[in-house]
Amino acid sequence: MNAVVPGMERKDKGARSLPLGLTAELTYRCPLACPYCSNPADLAQRTGEMTTEEWISVIDQAADMGILHFHFTGGEPATRRDLPELVAAARGRDLYTNLITSGVGLTRERVKGLADAGLDHLQLSVQGVDAASADAVGGYKGGFERKMAVAGWVTEEGLPLTVNAVMHRHNLDRLEETITLALSLGARRMEVATVQFHGWAERNRDALMPTRAQVDAATATVRAARERLKGRLVIDYVPGDYYATVPKACMGGWGLKTLTITPEGLALPCHAAQSLPHLSFQSVREVPLRDIWLEGPAFQAYRGQEWMREPCTTCAHRERDFGGCRCQALALAGDAAEADPACSRSPHHGAMVALAGAASTSGVTEWRYRPAVGKS
Ligand code: FES
Repeated sequence: MNAVVPGMERKDKGARSLPLGLTAELTYRCPLACPYCSNPADLAQRTGEMTTEEWISVIDQAADMGILHFHFTGGEPATRRDLPELVAAARGRDLYTNLITSGVGLTRERVKGLADAGLDHLQLSVQGVDAASADAVGGYKGGFERKMAVAGWVTEEGLPLTVNAVMHRHNLDRLEETITLALSLGARRMEVATVQFHGWAERNRDALMPTRAQVDAATATVRAARERLKGRLVIDYVPGDYYATVPKACMGGWGLKTLTITPEGLALPCHAAQSLPHLSFQSVREVPLRDIWLEGPAFQAYRGQEWMREPCTTCAHRERDFGGCRCQALALAGDAAEADPACSRSPHHGAMVALAGAASTSGVTEWRYRPAVGKS
């Protein structure tokens, strides 16, 4: 059932496959309230963040498994005072450390502290190209100004900077300016991610859904910018797949390359996996990480191809796109084992395109903000 991914078995002879990366959601606390946040919808009921010692145990287990990349995220990971300690622990185990942050909550001293702890790379989110538009999306006055300062501190420390931009109907027309902003901040890499409708974004679909024209224009803008900025800026692009004909290989395949650990210690095959209510997730507080990865029922559920149905079973692309996104299949086709409706061979494809068209022209301009979450 489990494909062995080349290069992953290096430190674990005999294992079927091992992940390359681990995303550690240290906390759901965040000063921002972005309406497309991928954190779960039932945030208010989430309590019990793992302690420093518990996270260090995860870091040790990840290193023992041969995981290479350790991504610190949230919520806003900088709300954890022990962030430098965790970065140092991961770096001490030779893990490549990446911080994914809104920047809010970081100071000049804290950025220096993280660099001193061995942080390898920082990804800074931007919600817009000016204070008015960015702070309106993030729901946090002064956020844009702080982000601009943080970018300066990061580059002063010599840390590689990536700018993350989630794009939706209200900012896609300013993509070119967003790319210019990333360049001016000293980023060498940029992630242009068209909003995916999981978590809070699903609740705000009518307000955020781009039009087909916007998605097509974005693809052309990225293509031209990649050509023009070769050697200066690498652009990773997550296209909006609502008007596509082939699905994306979500997560690089379920249970194949990466996993996510939630603040309370649940191990997930993808960050949105808790939207699949028929799956149960094991906690690293109770089960060793390696056992969860190799044998955990949630990881086995859609790993490989045995779970597939037509049209995936006979599709020539099934080893490349893995049937697309399981979370999107459940949300739009009613069953996580269906082909992702982004695929033109899915019987639900037409309904998805119609839904996207209707949402994008709904005229809804108000969104519901993700609520702030207090201390754990
Ligand atoms: Fe969960 Fe795509 S977001 S599989």
